[in-house]
Amino acid sequence: MILAFETSCDETSVAIVKDGQILSNELYSQIRHHRKFGGVVPELASRLHAEYVDQILDRALASASVNLSDISHIAVTVGPGLEGALLVGITAANTLAQFLNVPLIPVNHLHGHIFAAKDEFKLRFPAIVCLASGGHTMIIEMPDPYQFKFLCNTMDDACGEAFDKVARMLDLGYPGGPQVEQLAKSGAITVPLPHPVKPKKNMFSFSGLKTAVLSAINSQNYTREDVAASFQFKVAEILAYKLEFFIKQHHYEQLILCGGVFANQTIRSHLSNSLSIENVVVPSLKLCTDNAGMIGLAAESYLQHPKIQQFKMSCYPQLGLNFPGVK
Ligand code: KG4
Ligand code: ZN
Repeated sequence: MILAFETSCDETSVAIVKDGQILSNELYSQIRHHRKFGGVVPELASRLHAEYVDQILDRALASASVNLSDISHIAVTVGPGLEGALLVGITAANTLAQFLNVPLIPVNHLHGHIFAAKDEFKLRFPAIVCLASGGHTMIIEMPDPYQFKFLCNTMDDACGEAFDKVARMLDLGYPGGPQVEQLAKSGAITVPLPHPVKPKKNMFSFSGLKTAVLSAINSQNYTREDVAASFQFKVAEILAYKLEFFIKQHHYEQLILCGGVFANQTIRSHLSNSLSIENVVVPSLKLCTDNAGMIGLAAESYLQHPKIQQFKMSCYPQLGLNFPGVK
């Protein structure tokens, strides 16, 4: 029975996970506090995590009908993320682990996004993963559940960041992704947007697309709805183009789509239907964006690692794809 904490950005979340199932996954979203600033304010995020983490812990225990004495392990996101925000979750997890005398498992937030799919699907390897969130846009190869190899990264903006910036251009609030998707529902794909120049095969680029969206808005030739629909569909095409390139190179048993951007229905369905790989899995909507359930699922996988038995506990704001504390 794993108790998991996630406080890497602007969601305070605590979950209980057992045998690959999320028994509870409670969350306090700080969005309304950050909205007026147009983005996440790190200091405010840390303060709000500290204010809410124990209430969310109580809710997670109550909704799973679990007592603290039932917990066998405590998992916590240790990076990548905002340092002050991460430290709140780490402190809470560390304190409880000492109090209960149970092992602490430091979890990479990016692994959490990937293992979110485990709640509903059996993961198959070798897998290819596309992770698209507010901070990352990556294609990753996983020969097995314990190896994460970069195939493709972004050379400028992350995909979710591009959504957030386009939302701002369209006078929509923060976070932009859901609002662009909502506006796009009443639009048509009429705006000609360029596919980014392909600088390198292993790089995404979203900055040219953003500039093209700005020009389309300034030209006043298109409705805001059409701009939103066209931008969203172009992002789906960009992700699909790169994924297909790698899928053709190598045999993969499964494609795992994960991260906040895959909460977008158009992008989910375009990638599920247009690629030459049959087995495509996407976590349910609420497991695409940040939550502690996914951290508990990743921790469960860490516990089955054939070689690594101990992970060094620390805070790793700049963590890449590797296991925390293991080279
Ligand atoms: O995974 P996530 O919750 O947090 C990070 O680890 O970054 O992703 C948040 C990002 C934001 O940039 C947000 O605009 C984007 O995911 N996002 C969406 C949608 N929902 C969230 N982008 C497009 N369509 C959505 N429906
Ligand atoms: Zn995330």
